[in-house]
Formats: sequence, structure tokens, C-alpha cells
Amino acid sequence: MSVRTLNLSLAAFMVVAVVLSFAAARDFSRPNLEIMPDMVHGPTYQAFEPNPSTADGKTLRQPAPGTIARGLLPFRYELTEQDALRAGEELVNPLPMDDDAALARGGAAFTVFCQPCHGPSGAGDGMVSKRGFPPPPSLLLEHAVNMKDGQIFHVITLGQGNMPGHAAQVSREDRWEIINYIRSMQAAAPAQPAGTEPK
Ligand code: HEC
Repeated sequence: MSVRTLNLSLAAFMVVAVVLSFAAARDFSRPNLEIMPDMVHGPTYQAFEPNPSTADGKTLRQPAPGTIARGLLPFRYELTEQDALRAGEELVNPLPMDDDAALARGGAAFTVFCQPCHGPSGAGDGMVSKRGFPPPPSLLLEHAVNMKDGQIFHVITLGQGNMPGHAAQVSREDRWEIINYIRSMQAAAPAQPAGTEPK
């Protein structure tokens, strides 16, 4: 048999095999043919089970040194005034002020996480403050207006004085959105009398 005839008959065989495999009525309720069963049913180890196949005997592998979990960027600042000021110098707000969707999202997040103490307009008259929690200074005063975005990010992340940190409940992106929202409130607020700001 010549090579050409062999190729042709192989091709014909393939076509027939493919057509047949599509045409055959398959019963999807039954498992398919298992060609290599021990690959289909390999031994599975639970994450914290000992494992004879790894060098350290553990199933869960150690991440490579220096690995950072996705979305968990380190925040290299301490809860000190000095570090708050440093954050103000170093951190850059990635969101432009004219991003209306971000501003709307910031407003929604402010309502949930900040308004209870800081009040709907940021004046420091939230419901929690009215019920006995030491009221925060107004976010519309010159002190807060002059705070750099990165410094406010530091306050939201780690807290300040009686204000608890919000790193666990407000995502990084939402923190910047909230900051833009505060800026928009400050821009819309009437000028505050000088000398009333805290500190
Ligand atoms: C449990 C009440 C509470 C909540 C919730 C809260 N704050 Fe505060 N906040 C305070 C208090 C109290 C202060 C004053 C802290 C101090 O003693 O310096 C403060 C201070 C601040 C300051 C500094 C103002 C200045 O002029 O020094 C900023 C900025 C701020 N908060 C933003 C926020 C934002 C944004 C949120 C929401 C993510 C938020 N806060 C949620 C109570 C709260």
C-alpha cells in the first residue's frame, strides 16, 4: 500500500470516527469511558493534610518569598501624627475629581460608613454623635480642607483619636472615592469662620 493510499484511508477513518462519535446517541447520565482511571481518580489531599509527595511533607505550598496576596497591598504607615503627615506627602489620589461615578460611589460609602458620626453634610452632627459619642470636628472646617488626600486616607485606614480605623470595612478604592466626595462637600459648603478649626 502506498503512503498516499494509507493517508487517504486514515483520513477516511478519522472522518467516519468523528461523524459516528457525534451521531451516536450519548447517555449523559452515565460517566464517559475512562481511558486512564487513576488519572481521573487521583488521590486528593486536603490543604492541611500531611503529604508524602512534597519535600516538607505539607500539602499547602508556601508562597514564594515576598508574595503579596492580590488586593492586599501593604500599608506602610503607623498610627502616628507623623506618619499621617507622611502619608499626605507620599500617597496620591488615583481618582480624578470629575469622575462622576466614583463621586456617586463615594457619596454612598460616606452615607454608610461616615455619616453616622460625621453627619450628612460632614458637619460632625451624625446620629451617633448626637447620642453621646464625642462629636468629630466638622469636615468643612479649614483644618480638614487643608488636609492632604493621603492624610485623610491615613485617617480612614487607621483612625485618629476616638475615630476607629476603617481598613476592614472600606476598600482602598472606596476610601479615595469618599475623599473626593468630602472634597465636593467642602467645595459646596459656605466659607467657615476662621479660628474655629480643631488643634
Ligand atoms: C465612630 C464615629 C466615626 C466614624 C464612623 C467616622 N469618624 Fe471620622 N472622626 C471621628 C472622630 C471622633 C474624629 C476626631 C478624632 C480626633 O480626636 O482627632 C474623626 C476625625 C476624622 C477626620 C479628621 C478631621 C480633622 O479635621 O482632624 C477625618 C478626615 C475623618 N474623621 C473622616 C472620616 C471618614 C471619611 C469616615 C468614613 C469612612 C469617618 N471619618 C468615620 C469619628 C468617626
